[in-house]
Amino acid sequence: MVSRVIPVSAFDLVLFGATGDLARRKILPALFHRYEVGQMPEEARIIGSARTELTTEAFRAEVRQAIEEFTPDTPTRTEVLGRFLQKLDYVAVDALGEDGWQALAAMLRADAVRAFYLSVGPSLFAGIARQLESHGMATPEARIVVEKPFGRDLETARALNAGLRACFEEHQIYRIDHYLGKETVQNLMALRFANSLFEPLWNATHIDHVQITVAESLGIDGREAYYDQSGAMRDMVQNHLVQLLCLTAMEPPSKFTPNAVRDEKVKVIEALDPVPPGDIARGQYRDDEGGDGYLDHVGDPQSRTESFIALRVHVANWRWAGVPFYLRTGKKLRARVSEIVVQFRDPPHSIFPNVGPIHGNKLIIRLQPDEGITLRTTIKDPGPGGFRLAEVPLDMSFAEALGGDTRPQDAYERLVMDVIRGDQTLFMRGDEAEAAWAWVDPIIAEWERNRDRPYPYDQGSSGPEEALMLLHRDGRRWRQIGG
Ligand code: BG6
Repeated sequence: MVSRVIPVSAFDLVLFGATGDLARRKILPALFHRYEVGQMPEEARIIGSARTELTTEAFRAEVRQAIEEFTPDTPTRTEVLGRFLQKLDYVAVDALGEDGWQALAAMLRADAVRAFYLSVGPSLFAGIARQLESHGMATPEARIVVEKPFGRDLETARALNAGLRACFEEHQIYRIDHYLGKETVQNLMALRFANSLFEPLWNATHIDHVQITVAESLGIDGREAYYDQSGAMRDMVQNHLVQLLCLTAMEPPSKFTPNAVRDEKVKVIEALDPVPPGDIARGQYRDDEGGDGYLDHVGDPQSRTESFIALRVHVANWRWAGVPFYLRTGKKLRARVSEIVVQFRDPPHSIFPNVGPIHGNKLIIRLQPDEGITLRTTIKDPGPGGFRLAEVPLDMSFAEALGGDTRPQDAYERLVMDVIRGDQTLFMRGDEAEAAWAWVDPIIAEWERNRDRPYPYDQGSSGPEEALMLLHRDGRRWRQIGG
């Protein structure tokens, strides 16, 4: 039996960008929760770092505020938080200059796991890595963690890789894609490779098509400048949706080890066909009540950036030949839903007279909200009279099946602890990030060359009509966002 909480070794985690938004909302609350459940040893230390001069006391007060805001109140929170804050130190460093680095180096212990978490913009990655190395902190066992965006195209991703690899080995570099830390994303591997039921059917002979949807109801509030330079393709498809596609389409790795899993994912990315413009629908949410459309939000009436994208993608290999993977993601849609729908083929022949067409089974893997799995099955409609068929769901919500009172673990909790444990399975390898950009770049280049404008769509809708057409013209339909 594998224990639920395996304590990690003593560590020094240096968090660059410690006063930033991601640190406050996600990383520090995740560390707090891992401490709360007893995974973090008493000898663990978190050293916050940013350019601002702060005393350790002032930093602790900021962290207290963040934890109170972003974690649920429990009867023990105040007491646990008091102890957690004692593990925190702070040192101001100038990422681009010399200030603070010696002080930081002096704080690190030789006998603790050492991790540097760069919760900062990618333009600072290489500079920080260099400073860590030149001040003797990049020891062979040290780990460096970087957040997305990992570049904005192949060229910038290569430069980031080169900057990091100049000071750290690949096995020390942890590129975060937080979707890989989500429970159901990992469950996709369990579902496929710990059950013998699905794998024999998991191919073009039995599967008609796959839909991957990551829909958000929120807009781009507070991130307008970043988002307008990225758009849905760079912000979501290159990383999160490609990862979901990889885990759905990959061959079974021979072992659950970082390189075995990542080798299989890279093969999927390399097998992706180029996507012609006719297989893409880009959208931009329009103004609905005066001044709140995408163009108003970014303050540029000429912006051609997409807040929605749908694509028809082909994985050109033996397993998937001829099976379209339809991907879509967008902001300001009708609900916040992430799911993968595997549509099996219709039965080849019906023995039942007068029941109309019988549809293939549908396996729905829900990532959020209400993580779980549904298998839509056809049964006899009970009762007297003629023989009728009905489609019903075999439904499993993980929260209900595995104990409704357990708090779901946030993706960052698993990922940060994996860094300390030295397990890279759920992190992107450098060649993987580059392969994804190599697929994405020509698609973006094409619409930039043509100066294509995204189609407007209503806020609270399912995206532009053209995205629906992408499936209609193939005689298929999207599953409705929100069930
Ligand atoms: C981030 C994107 O990586 O993922 C955001 O930059 C997006 O634009 C977010 O909102 C979605 O993550 P989640 O976990 O809320 O689905």
